[in-house]
Amino acid sequence: MDTAINTTFPIEIHKSPVSHISTVDFDQLQFGKVFTDHMFEADYIDGKWTNCTIRPLSTLQLHPATSALHYGQAVFEGMKAFKTTEGKVMLFRPDANFRRLNESCVRMAIPELPEELFMDALFQLVRIDADWIPNTDEGSMYIRPFVFATDDFVGIKPSDTFKFIIFCCPVARYYSKPVRVYMQEQFIRAFPGGTGAVKAAGNYGATMMPLMEARKRGFDQMLWIDGVTHNRLQEIGTMNVFVQIDDTIITIPTTEGTILKGVTRDSCIALLRDGGYKVEERDVTIQELIDAHRSGRLHDAFGTGTAATVAPIGVIGYKDEEYELPPVESRKASAWLKHELWAIRKGIATDRFDWMWEV
Ligand code: COI
Repeated sequence: MDTAINTTFPIEIHKSPVSHISTVDFDQLQFGKVFTDHMFEADYIDGKWTNCTIRPLSTLQLHPATSALHYGQAVFEGMKAFKTTEGKVMLFRPDANFRRLNESCVRMAIPELPEELFMDALFQLVRIDADWIPNTDEGSMYIRPFVFATDDFVGIKPSDTFKFIIFCCPVARYYSKPVRVYMQEQFIRAFPGGTGAVKAAGNYGATMMPLMEARKRGFDQMLWIDGVTHNRLQEIGTMNVFVQIDDTIITIPTTEGTILKGVTRDSCIALLRDGGYKVEERDVTIQELIDAHRSGRLHDAFGTGTAATVAPIGVIGYKDEEYELPPVESRKASAWLKHELWAIRKGIATDRFDWMWEV
């Protein structure tokens, strides 16, 4: 056992005696199915974060009344570590994920995490499992920090105890083909005043049934529509959405509190503007999207997210119609954006926004 150099939240480190890295085929990685050797775990007890440990990844033992399992008091993040072409291990905007995790905690009545605890746990874990970061063009290590309520109590009240865990997965691409998204007005992902803007576990659970319906129709994901006007695009759920109409790239504003403030979304807006593209944050209605498609003015559409990075949308479905987007090879904005983001992460392009943190 080693103890890390962290004064307020000392981390006990128990390294796995054997690594299972040699059993993994890094050319056939399925997103989220392969896990690294270690995990971080801490408990919130009596108003303090304690028991900070990095140990071999294993299952958890939970009481059947664990409140997160019943009432969904649980939040998570998704972030990534990369290996540059020179072999340096870098995290992409961990400060932004840290801030958003705490915004999610506040909304879900979970105690905020101290920055020192979050960063130290993250950096130590990524260092220990750094060999797992694929050194390929599309590869990275997906990092999943999450916090959930652990009181074993069946009544409804905010939990007094929580667990903060981080585990990691070596990953390749999330979507291997242009994404087929489906719009409908019946099922709603998020309302003003709800939890759509934060990464609450329940946001995702509630989308599974409509997603199954969309899959039956041959689509990969829902493109959610707002629940007030039943008319405006929101987000994809795994991604924020961008569309290019004429020469303007439009993404949906996050001001209503229904849309996740994607770190990749924010990075893409900055990159596009820096690259001379015209970007607008404004609402887009179903009708505007269909009209733009019919008149040949919808030149590009893509989703952005940590897991998916920049994923071109191939088809937008609505009612019984399928609106096909131009072939991916002919699209300039999403291809340029994907390349720029990749080049910064791989250390090929200058990190002009100071996004990369060396581990
Ligand atoms: C992410 O991009 O990190 C997400 O949370 C989406 C998830 C479905 C993998």
